[in-house]
This record gives sequence, C-alpha cells and structure tokens, in this order.
Amino acid sequence: MNLIREFDFTEWNPKISAATSQQAIAALEGGFVICLPHLPFVLTEDEKRFLSETWSDKKSKNISLRPQGGLKGAVGSEADLKDLRAMIQRYSDQATQLVSSLFPDYVSNLVAANTSLRPFEVEWRVSSYRKDDKRLHTDAFPSNPTQGTRLLRVFNNVNLYGKPRVWRVGEPFDAMVAKYLPRAKNMFPGQAWLMQKLGITKRQRTPYDQLMLQLHDLVKADINYQRNSPQQSVDFMPGTTWIVYSDQVLHAAMSGQYMMEQTFHLPPEALYQPETSPIKILESIKGRSLGLAS
Ligand SMILES: [Fe+2]
Repeated sequence: MNLIREFDFTEWNPKISAATSQQAIAALEGGFVICLPHLPFVLTEDEKRFLSETWSDKKSKNISLRPQGGLKGAVGSEADLKDLRAMIQRYSDQATQLVSSLFPDYVSNLVAANTSLRPFEVEWRVSSYRKDDKRLHTDAFPSNPTQGTRLLRVFNNVNLYGKPRVWRVGEPFDAMVAKYLPRAKNMFPGQAWLMQKLGITKRQRTPYDQLMLQLHDLVKADINYQRNSPQQSVDFMPGTTWIVYSDQVLHAAMSGQYMMEQTFHLPPEALYQPETSPIKILESIKGRSLGLAS
C-alpha cells in the first residue's frame, strides 16, 4: 500500500500536460496524498521571524487568517501583525493558484476557507482521544457540520531546521468504512434541530455529518486499529507541499513544527468524479440520502 503520489512541480502555477493533469485528478479524488517535494513556500528573511511560538496568543493552536481578512490567534504590534497577515495571505494566494492549475474544473465552485500558520510542535501536544490528531482519523468536526462539502487542504512544511512533518496515512476510506460503519449510531429524533437551536452546531448536522463524526470517534478510540491497521509513515521534509482531501484520507500528524495550511471547501457535485466523495460512498452503502431532510 502506498497512498502517496509524488509530482515534480516546482511552481505554484505549474504548466502541466493533459496526462499529468489526469494523474493528479485521479490521485486526489481517489484518496491519495499528492506530494510535491520541490515546491517550497519561500519566506523572506524578514518573515522568518514569524516561525516562533511567540506570535501565538497561546489560546488557539493555530494562527489563522479568515477569508474575510481577520487574523486570529496572533499577538504582536500592529506593524508586525500586518506583515504576518501578508505572509499568510501570500500562502493563501499561492495555494489557490496551485489548486486552480491542477484542478481547473474546481475553480468556479471552490471556496477558500481559513489559512493557517501552525507554530507549535505537535509531538508533545496532550489532548483527549477525540481531539488527538496523533491518532489516525478522517476530519469531521462536532460544531461545524459540512453537510457533505469536501475539505480540501494544501499543506507546506516551512520548518527552517530540517525537521520533517511526520504523518501516518491509513488505509483507503472504503476499507475503514467497511469496518466501522456498522457500529455508527444515528442521531435521536430532533437532535440535529436542537443542537442548531442551542448553538452547539453552526448549521444543521445532517445524517452524513453524524456518520462522519461517529467514524472519526470510533477510529480514534480503537487502539488496536491505530496500531495494527494498514498504514504508512511519511516524512514531509521542509520545502514540501502536499494536497489532500482530509475528509477522505486517514491521517495522523505525529511530529513537526511550523506548517502552513490552506483549507478549501468544494461541493461534492463539483468533483471530476463525484462518486468518490465520502457522502456518495456512504449514501451508496446506506441506500438513501444522507443530506438535509427535505
Ligand atoms: Fe485532521
């Protein structure tokens, strides 16, 4: 099993052949990690100062730039924060260029979400098992239901000291689903409405979101699966960019410090092959719609 597909792109706006484009699309939508070992996010000498925990407000694990322009999780003088914001914005622009070049049919439906600088070492982070991203998981968030929208992420290791970002990547999505879907519990009647009403969820949790959360929790709770399921360890070296559907690819961040990340949202219908999306896979197994009740 090797779920990593390497490409040799050296620009954020690569000119690629039709054949390479097809390979990249098949890899991404097929649940592989697209790895670009020769695509660094280049910091200016001046910007290298931002690779430090001192800019974090210590309350958030990331420094995030919201698509509306707000910078969250950072502390510093007005001038410093302006420079920090400009650096994160440039990463957002380059990630957008990259995705637009590789997946041109996405462009009209692609929605840029947060961009983040992740300044903390992940290896020593302590958290409850549900929040422990050193355990294999597919992304699903209790308060932020996606309702089936894809989570496309572009990462870059910006560590200046040669330290890799070490991930584990697990077995293909459908293999994990086959093991855990039978144990996933449905919501009780009225639960989705109530959670939205109480502000627990930002929008209504759909049957899809419920199953994805259950899969997330069941996989993280299963120590035997964490240790013994098919998986591979990957070192993303500094200067490497990688692209992944994090709602589809089982991943765990084991160690590393200083990473850039851009999240995009994309409706499943906008995929080249919509049937590869988690909602379509789960709906085909369940034999019914898992969207909002109509
Ligand atoms: Fe994750």
